[in-house]
Amino acid sequence: MKKLFVLMLAAAISGFMLTSCGGNAKKSDTGSASVTKAKTAKVYTANLENGKAVYNKVCIACHMTGVAGAPALKNKDRWTEIAAKGMKQLHHDAINGFTGKFGVMPARGSCTDCSDQDLYDAVAYMLKTAGVSAN
Ligand code: HEC
Repeated sequence: MKKLFVLMLAAAISGFMLTSCGGNAKKSDTGSASVTKAKTAKVYTANLENGKAVYNKVCIACHMTGVAGAPALKNKDRWTEIAAKGMKQLHHDAINGFTGKFGVMPARGSCTDCSDQDLYDAVAYMLKTAGVSAN
């Protein structure tokens, strides 16, 4: 009988400890979630080597000579105008697609396995090759 009581007490204590642990974990979870939220705007750094590879695999189809209204890389006038939109906007347009007065830029250039980073790198490579830069 005494043994059973000790067991029950032990169970009660560990139960209590679990509960209080759970409570604490929840609190710190919420804390880290709000920290993550504050950091959602990912800062990208361009990898031009990767950008070149992605461009040569995907974007070149339209952007080399200007197929379907795409700005050809040698068309510096158009790229100067495009660069003025800023890197963040251009990255967004490369990811989501963009319809302008010249034609339709398909989402991800139709490259379903290109990551957001791949697209960032490709845009940076294209701007550099066109001889312009964007903030
Ligand atoms: C099927 C053809 C096609 C392919 C492939 C393509 N683009 Fe485009 N892209 C376009 C067209 C067309 C426009 C211009 C739309 C306009 O200004 O009217 C454009 C415009 C853009 C712009 C400028 C967007 C803006 O806001 O002015 C960027 C940046 C861009 N493309 C990046 C890419 C990247 C990166 C790739 C490869 C991953 C790619 N494109 C592949 C057709 C293409």
